[in-house]
Amino acid sequence: MPERTPIILDVDTGIDDALALALALGSPEAELVAVTTLAGNVGVEATTANTLAVLAWLGLDETPVHRGASRPLARPHRDATYFHDANGLGGTELPASSGTVGADRGPAAIIRLARERPGEIVLVCLGPLTNLAIALNVAPELGTLLRGVVVMGGAFEVPGNVTLHAEFNVFADPEAAQQVFSSGLPSLTAIGLDVTHQTAWSRSSWEATRAAVGDPAAKLAVAVCRQAFEDRGLTQTYLHDPLAVAVALDPDLVRNEDAAIAVETDDERRGKTEIIGPGSTQVALAVDAERFLRRFAERLSLHYLVGD
Ligand code: BDR
Ligand code: CA
Repeated sequence: MPERTPIILDVDTGIDDALALALALGSPEAELVAVTTLAGNVGVEATTANTLAVLAWLGLDETPVHRGASRPLARPHRDATYFHDANGLGGTELPASSGTVGADRGPAAIIRLARERPGEIVLVCLGPLTNLAIALNVAPELGTLLRGVVVMGGAFEVPGNVTLHAEFNVFADPEAAQQVFSSGLPSLTAIGLDVTHQTAWSRSSWEATRAAVGDPAAKLAVAVCRQAFEDRGLTQTYLHDPLAVAVALDPDLVRNEDAAIAVETDDERRGKTEIIGPGSTQVALAVDAERFLRRFAERLSLHYLVGD
């Protein structure tokens, strides 16, 4: 087997976080070292319970899970239940997991694991950047201990999805995002709406998968997206977090621009991410969507209709 990439997923599970966990677990080139959680799409108690339940559903309830930040650095928590439902999983009730959370909290676990395996781990942040900002504050050397950091966040040359200006993960904790993007992390990739809005799971593919569903990952994907397709009548749902996982394992899926990024923290343009010149963050501006979608479908045993 080729060498596996050790990854930590920092999640606010969340519909597409659940799909990202399934993609990581279904990818033979990934070694899922641990999962850290935080408040985002729903509160941290729920994102942690959802994460444990998803891992148990996928048969990997021994993966270490560490609960992290319960609120943004400087603001009250604002959730995204308008999209992910009150339970965060589109109303899907998974069997509760008997799994437990680790003794150390999310940021502490990230630092400990990075120190245990210097230069090996890729951290993939799929929620607000609170845990990473705290970890960088406590251990500024973190950037040299990690092989890389991939962040799902930002809307650089496209409109936002919470406001005209802002993407949800950056909007939720703009101070954390501002700290992370100005931290000088040596290997930081931003997967924003510029590319995730090119990668969607279509309703026709969802329907075809539902008709033939068998595999646990496919059952999970069908269940968590049911509300979006059936109750809300959407024709597609974006694969934000799965794309970030896929890029962590195969950076060639995207084409990046080396950029310096400013994050707005004032109320009017809260969470706006702007490229202000050349810099050390790799901002993804183009994606091989078809290659990603084929891989995503294959790894989760989904029915992929060419040309969807
Ligand atoms: C991001 O916001 C969350 O709602 C999703 O899980 C994803 O991480 C997309 O803007
Ligand atoms: Ca997320």
